[in-house]
Amino acid sequence: MESLKDKVVYQIYPKSFRDSDGDGYGDLRGIIEKLDYLQWLGVDYVWSTPFFLSPQRDNGYDIADYYQVDPAFGTMEDAEELIRKASERGIGIMFDMVFNHTSTEHEWFKRALAGEKEYQDYYIFRDGEPGNPPTNWESKFGGNAWEYVPSLGKWYLHLFDRTQADLNWDNPKVREELKNVIRFWKEKGVKGFRFDVVNLISKPEVLESDDQGDGRRFYTDGPHVHEYLKELVRDTGIHGMITVGEMSSTSIDNCIRYTNPEEKELAMCFHFHHLKVDYKDGDKWEVQPADYGKLRELFVGWQEGMEKNNGWEAVFWCNHDQPRAVSRFGDDKKYWKESAKMLGAAVHTMRGTPYIFQGEELGMTNAGYTDISQYRDVESTNYYQIMLERGKTREEALHILNERSRDNGRTPMQWSSQENAGFSAGTPWISIPENYKTINVEAEMADEDSILYFYRRLIALRKEEKAIAEGSIEFLPTEDPQLLAFRRVLGEEEILCIHNFGGEEKALPWDLDGGDYEVLLGNYQGGSEKLLKELRPYESVVLKRK
Ligand code: GLC
Repeated sequence: MESLKDKVVYQIYPKSFRDSDGDGYGDLRGIIEKLDYLQWLGVDYVWSTPFFLSPQRDNGYDIADYYQVDPAFGTMEDAEELIRKASERGIGIMFDMVFNHTSTEHEWFKRALAGEKEYQDYYIFRDGEPGNPPTNWESKFGGNAWEYVPSLGKWYLHLFDRTQADLNWDNPKVREELKNVIRFWKEKGVKGFRFDVVNLISKPEVLESDDQGDGRRFYTDGPHVHEYLKELVRDTGIHGMITVGEMSSTSIDNCIRYTNPEEKELAMCFHFHHLKVDYKDGDKWEVQPADYGKLRELFVGWQEGMEKNNGWEAVFWCNHDQPRAVSRFGDDKKYWKESAKMLGAAVHTMRGTPYIFQGEELGMTNAGYTDISQYRDVESTNYYQIMLERGKTREEALHILNERSRDNGRTPMQWSSQENAGFSAGTPWISIPENYKTINVEAEMADEDSILYFYRRLIALRKEEKAIAEGSIEFLPTEDPQLLAFRRVLGEEEILCIHNFGGEEKALPWDLDGGDYEVLLGNYQGGSEKLLKELRPYESVVLKRK
């Protein structure tokens, strides 16, 4: 089994990557067109978010048929060509398996609605009266998590949108159906899988209201989740492939079980604790500046905790559900370039598998929308209403969406300074930030000091330096919340990584008996004679002990 530790994954949101036919939506042929770019960048795998048949209520995370490519994205032949052409370039394609729920347009759900008991048992239905849902659980997209079906006199559970009905994993037939989906795509040459919110699949037998919260404590890392994952992985033969589980509100202990190779569950997992340090009291819809002390604490806890028990993390800042990192944790104005590079270096030198989300390698920023009509995301439009109902003014609600909306990460990939950023010859499905004229692939390809070149170098570095890919991690103690420094050690080799998360100069609090190190990488041009004594704003240095 080839080690995954020096690999880097690139995430594509196909709807916003590249539109090949001018209808305003990105598509599979658009990805095929850009494979040379991805090869140049040096990534090993490409994970594409779902492009299966879907009514697109939640941009493809509401799947109506796992075996069909949605015509908006292309055809089965396009999917096969993508897999083949990527593989010719040494890139493995990973597909996104949304197995916690299906769209209510899925055949199984339609048959359930038509009264077929067999298919009702594919979902989580409960008898009941209108107006009185079975539990008080809340949907992650706002409102109660149950929807009433008058014709059946039953409620069904949806932890996300009401058109995303939760599957009943306790039913062995459901588990078989889902294994068949994996077998089908594996057969087609897919090299790995991402499992959407996979730690939510196992609900307790008896569902009860939560007097302490929104219900998540009952189904997060639920009663049979490890058992079901082991079964899925064993029966589809995907152990050893690259697999990543998206884990919602999880714990270190659970993530160790999900990813320790002896457990034969998954290769790695995403968790999101570090992306909540700017939530006020855990509430995504209340903005506060990032708490860098907490960020540090979380990195230290997770990195050391996972290492101690042989767990493996996906390390990342950005995805299609998150605002852009440079706008959030860096400075997308004065220190745009420095801070984007620093953030990249911080993640790419940690222990785990780095994920790059399309456009992150360019330093793409938040969308900067000024009107609610520019937003497309169901979560954003739902919460806009909820915020108004809670008494926020329109300006306040818009400001919060500016910072928090998932659409910040979904604006089209900025390929060039031409019209529509070279994304589409038609009208893009979602508007493009003004800054595409300067922040784009074409411009950054022409500048070796660009963020893009820096990311390319980071990807290569993980392959050159075994200590970065495989070494242990030890954090250097400091009182300063904005400094993050750690050593990566493998046998005799030692790499020291120092990252300044602030826009101020910082005196180095550690005595590093300077002179013993060679600089592998830094985000400022030219060396600093003060190096190892002082850090410049957002400076990042990666040093190797001689
Ligand atoms: C995951 C996806 C997100 C989707 C949700 C429901 O969190 O990343 O985009 O809305 O699951 O499938």
